Amino acid sequence: MLDLLVVGDANPDVLVHGAPDVPPYGQAETLVGGGVLALGGSAAIAAHGAARLGLATAFAGLVGRDAAGDFVLDALSGAGVDVSRVVRHETLPTALTVCLNRPGGDRAILTASGCLAGFGPEHVPDVAARHVHAASYFLQPRLAEALPALLRKHRASGATTSLDTNDDPSGRWELAPGLLAECTFLLPNEAEALALSGRADLPEALAALVGAGCVPVVKRGGRGAVALQDGATVHVDAPHADPVDTVGAGDSFDAGFLAGWLDRGDLAHAMRLGAVCGALSTRATGGTAGQPALAEALAQIA
Ligand SMILES: Nc1ncnc2c1ncn2[C@@H]1O[C@H](COP(=O)(O)OP(=O)(O)O)[C@@H](O)[C@H]1O
Ligand SMILES: [Mg+2]
Repeated sequence: MLDLLVVGDANPDVLVHGAPDVPPYGQAETLVGGGVLALGGSAAIAAHGAARLGLATAFAGLVGRDAAGDFVLDALSGAGVDVSRVVRHETLPTALTVCLNRPGGDRAILTASGCLAGFGPEHVPDVAARHVHAASYFLQPRLAEALPALLRKHRASGATTSLDTNDDPSGRWELAPGLLAECTFLLPNEAEALALSGRADLPEALAALVGAGCVPVVKRGGRGAVALQDGATVHVDAPHADPVDTVGAGDSFDAGFLAGWLDRGDLAHAMRLGAVCGALSTRATGGTAGQPALAEALAQIA
C-alpha cells in the first residue's frame, strides 16, 4: 500500500530575486538579481519532500499536455514520486507561478491556475494509502466541493487525512460544509488559521478549528509551529536558519510532518520533523532543492 497520496496542484515556479517592489511598465527591461525555474505547487512540493523522506508517495493532479506539464512530472518522478496516475488536460495549460522574492522572506505570488480550474474528483485515482493529503484548496473549486466525500472515503478505509488550504485569492475563505471534520490535521500558516476560523488571535483560532473537528497544526515561520490536541497546546521551535528563500517552507513542513506522523503516530514528533524540514528547505532557492533525506532530518532533531 502507498504511504501517502497527495492530491492537488503542480506547476513550474519562476522565482525572481532582486526585483523592484513595483516593476516599471512601459516595455522597460529591468535587470534582476537572479531567476530560477523550480517545481512549484503546494501539493507537488509536499509530495516531492515526502518522497525525499522515503515515503511511498503518489501524486494525483491535472497538468496540461505542454512543456510545463512535462517539467513538473519529470521533477516529481525524479524524486521517486509515482506520477503514473496524473491526468493531462488536452487543451488547457499547466498552471504557472511567478514569484517575486524580497530579502527577508516576503514575496508576491502571481499564479495562472490554468487547468487547475478543471481538476475534479474524477481525476483522483481510487488507490489505497495510509494517509491522504490535499493542498491548495482555493485554486481547485471542483476538487474543493468533492473533498469532504473523498477524505471521508479514505478515512473509512483506515487512512488519516490532512489539508493545507494555502491562501484564498478571493479572500472569502469558505470551506465546504463538514470538510474540517474529515481532516485529521489542518496545516495552515498563522494568517490562514485566522482567516479560516474568522478569529482575531491564534488561541481562539486553534479552539475554533478544534471545534470544527480537526487537529490544527499552525506554521509560524521563524517562530516554529503550534498545535492544539485533546485540550493541550503543543509548541515546536523553529530550528535556526538563514533563509535563502522561504518558498515552499510550509509545504516542506507538511512533508516532514506527515513522515513523522506515519512513522510514530505522535503529534509532537511529527511537528519537530516538520519544523526541521521547513527550516532546511529555506537553505536553497525554490521549494524542493533544500529538502532533506530522512537521515539528515532525523539527525537535526537529535
Ligand atoms: N526563517 C525561518 N527559520 C526557521 N524555520 C523556518 C523559517 N521559515 C519557515 N520555517 C519553518 O518552516 C515552517 C513553515 O514555514 P511558514 O512560513 O510558517 O509556512 P508557509 O510557507 O506555509 O507560509 C515553519 O513552521 C518553520 O518550521
Ligand atoms: Mg503554505
